[in-house]
Amino acid sequence: MPDIESLLKEKRTFKPSPEFSRQANWNKRTTNEYRKLGAKNPTRFWAKMARENVEWFTPWKKVLDWKPPFAKWFVGAKTNVSYNCLDRHLEGENAWRRNKAAIIWEGEPGDSRVLTYAELHREVCRFANVLKARGVKKGDRVCLYMPMIPELAIAMLACSRIGAPHSIVFGGFSAEALADRINDAQAKLVVTADGGYRKGTAFALKTTVDAALEKTPCVETTIVVKRTGEPVAFRSGRDLWWHEVMADASTRCPAAKLDAEHPLFILYTSGTTGNPKGILHTTGGYLTHVTTTFKAIFDIKDEDVYWCTADIGWITGHSYVVYGPLSNGATTVMYEGTPTHPGPDRWWSLIEKWGISIFYTAPTAIRTFIRLGDELPKAHDLSSLRLLGTVGEPINPEAWMWYHRVIGRRRCPIVDTWWQTETGGIMISAIPGAVETKPGSATLPFPGIHADIFDEEGKAVKGEGGGFLVVTHPWPGMLRGIWGDKKRYKETYWGKYKDTYFAGDGAHRDKAGYFWIMGRIDDVMNISGHRIGTMEVESALVSSPDVAEAAVVGRPDEITGTAIVAFVSPKDTAKPGPDLVDRLKRHVAQEIGAIARPAEIRFTNALPKTRSGKIMRRLLRDIASGREVAGDTSTLEDFSVLARLRESEED
Ligand code: PRX
Repeated sequence: MPDIESLLKEKRTFKPSPEFSRQANWNKRTTNEYRKLGAKNPTRFWAKMARENVEWFTPWKKVLDWKPPFAKWFVGAKTNVSYNCLDRHLEGENAWRRNKAAIIWEGEPGDSRVLTYAELHREVCRFANVLKARGVKKGDRVCLYMPMIPELAIAMLACSRIGAPHSIVFGGFSAEALADRINDAQAKLVVTADGGYRKGTAFALKTTVDAALEKTPCVETTIVVKRTGEPVAFRSGRDLWWHEVMADASTRCPAAKLDAEHPLFILYTSGTTGNPKGILHTTGGYLTHVTTTFKAIFDIKDEDVYWCTADIGWITGHSYVVYGPLSNGATTVMYEGTPTHPGPDRWWSLIEKWGISIFYTAPTAIRTFIRLGDELPKAHDLSSLRLLGTVGEPINPEAWMWYHRVIGRRRCPIVDTWWQTETGGIMISAIPGAVETKPGSATLPFPGIHADIFDEEGKAVKGEGGGFLVVTHPWPGMLRGIWGDKKRYKETYWGKYKDTYFAGDGAHRDKAGYFWIMGRIDDVMNISGHRIGTMEVESALVSSPDVAEAAVVGRPDEITGTAIVAFVSPKDTAKPGPDLVDRLKRHVAQEIGAIARPAEIRFTNALPKTRSGKIMRRLLRDIASGREVAGDTSTLEDFSVLARLRESEED
């Protein structure tokens, strides 16, 4: 978490250059005008955006129906996300885009594919027909567990074309995690691949699906893309090859006319309990939000080549690799593999090779590259770049400056974009041709977004000050619920303050009204920009026969932002030591996925608790971040003295 004292000393500011502002989609004047309208009348602002940026089959009767905490946007309207991402670029005055690159894809081994809008449209129609032929109907859930290959985008757009909500599970999640998500959403069909490439080797996906499907009676069909050619087991009657079912599928499939509130996708994210939440997004509002923010914040032009490095398995990939860019008719780049393969300059060579002009990535990646040195990016021609973005976690001003100097060559504006899986699209960000930036600040809320800072009692902090980040008016891309759990939706997001969305982040606002995001204030860790709940890791640990009790905290880490530290109290029968450390780390990776693997496991005979039995996390956090330990601690720690010292304070 950045230190507020040092952040507030940050005085550097960067004005948009006149050249950038002159050509910007939103200049100062438009931005100010929209800001005024959005502040006074957010529904009128969003209705204007919906009319200008999205195509509708039937207009709405009412812009917003708000019965807190349930919102409906564009009530009565009909549209289709796949239609907006494809068909509208093939007709009328946009017909020239038929042969424009929609997706430029590069595989880790160096193979590549370019799909034009017309080609992508054909593939999507064919796969939509395949889904229909397998009995997938409007409203049925489809799970996508795939590597970063074009078929993933094709499958998403095919689902949205027929109104079958997709649930994408990041390929790094384990069989257990996949099975839980499939069952929670009751998915009927799973799309996967034999595997994908990472760090120079093929990893398997179908075998993980096979293991998960032992526990998921709801799944009737799996469709498998051949990517690596590694042998896979096939169950007849259930498993089908993508290339075989696609071979004779028709390339005509009209986009379903869907209600604006028809479910578009479910995406699972971590919360403060052991079970991930299925965040639900719907059609018209989400589409309006991502299309508008993409156009304004990424300043997209038809000549641009845009690359967002996120995996599509996360919200950033949904909104700003696929839906936002394609709905704007942009060229979006997808890269399959690791940033440092085969050499540590792979990303910079990709920028040079494809002439990328807009680049969007995470601070954790920037910090990794800082460590690798300036020579790697300097050895490449990055002159095609004109705009940079960051997302996922707070960026420290020095990393921002490096990004500005070494990647942007002091020429490119940087948009630091704050948002969440739940918000659907960007909420706080600079508009590059209009807003002066400050390293480390996400700057100002997007027009029409009523972000604010509240104190513990729910009073708005006036002017400069810190507190909890909230949103006081509904917005079109907001989550519509947690799949199958209304109560949790109400309590998590709307329970702390009346009719106000509680984001779970701490924030500070400076004199100029700029937001400085301080990070999570709940028991959710941000590991390399990805959310992992401490409770999830704890329940994975206690499911091991060797563990009596576990408490998990985050500690600051120079590269990943946060590293996971687990305090484990072993059962009497267990033998704490390096072997058990290894076993437990592997166990967590197996239960959740490699991203949740603890960096450190420390054994203790008892966890420090308050009199009322609450684990003293603050104490554990201090211990985890304060004391240098060489590798894993395999001896038992005794917290009793420290715990007694802190007891009164924590109770
Ligand atoms: O803590 C904030 C952090 O990421 C959380 C949301 O995580 P997730 O739903 O996985 O979505 C990440 C990508 C949108 C937030 O609660 N976060 C996201 N963007 C920023 C950020 N923290 C600081 N600055 C940001 N720009």
